[in-house]
Amino acid sequence: MTEGTVKATFDIYRYDPGHDRAPRYQRYTLDLAPHTPVLTALLKIRAEIDPSLALRYSCRSAICGSCAMQVNSKSRLACETQIGPELARDGRIVIEPMRNQSVLRDLVVEQEPFWRNYDKVQPHLILDPRHPMPEGSENPMTPEEVERFRETPRCIACAACFSACPAVEADPAFPGPMALAKLYRFVVDPRDQGHQDRLARIQTEGLWLCLRCHLCTEACPKDVRPSERIRDLKEMAVAVQGGTEHGSKHAIGFKDNIRDRGLLNEMKLVRQTSGVVGVLEQLPQGMRIVRKRPELIRKPHRIEGMDEVEKIYEALDRPEEKP
Ligand code: FES
Repeated sequence: MTEGTVKATFDIYRYDPGHDRAPRYQRYTLDLAPHTPVLTALLKIRAEIDPSLALRYSCRSAICGSCAMQVNSKSRLACETQIGPELARDGRIVIEPMRNQSVLRDLVVEQEPFWRNYDKVQPHLILDPRHPMPEGSENPMTPEEVERFRETPRCIACAACFSACPAVEADPAFPGPMALAKLYRFVVDPRDQGHQDRLARIQTEGLWLCLRCHLCTEACPKDVRPSERIRDLKEMAVAVQGGTEHGSKHAIGFKDNIRDRGLLNEMKLVRQTSGVVGVLEQLPQGMRIVRKRPELIRKPHRIEGMDEVEKIYEALDRPEEKP
């Protein structure tokens, strides 16, 4: 080992669906400086040890997003992730392809579902031909209007959020964090004339499938904070359209329940969300739960400290205090 280097062990996911019966992990050991980016190490392995290793990359500067992969179980950009901290924390570096996308070979995944979802949100300004922008004008926005979507243009479409998202894994109907963050960017753009339609459509096209786990925000290498943009979209959808379907009715019911007594009234929430038919459908399951936890049907009471809850709601009702 040369001075200033560390022995770095890489366990790399290898799989060629056309030839291999099952994925395997192949171990490579290199002497590298601790500040070496993971991508540099992978390229060294490919150049000096195993030319069959397949991976995607382009800019090597955290700009293009193509080198995203799982590094020690986290969605990361390989070109900006240094090996030193990974080895110090985990003792080795496990490299795997992005999740929620099928493997084409080794670390290269099929990106078509990711881009299809992006395409579906119409990530461009929608203009009304009946109200064209004045000729030669760029329809300038105020600094406050620009500020509302300051973060979303930083997205480099690396799909780290898509890979980290359990809602994508659970239901392919969920568009994914990036697509929704991009949608938000156009909904708050004052030049966009399709924002009402966008909000109406997305309510039935997966917006409410978000689980609010914030793993997308944790994974994003550009601090776009997609989970917060999804929260904003939900608030706007409810403000503009009210409770139009299951997800928004549930959110409104949840908020009203807590406002009433500081606790959820599960039975009332089911009725508010799914109506009488929903209550009847869920009755057998409800009975099973009540048999195990009879305290759930005792007379509703207000929690101690309700005055603090009321203060929160009063603040929420004052628009100038909303985030
Ligand atoms: S190679 Fe472009 S972001 Fe890593």
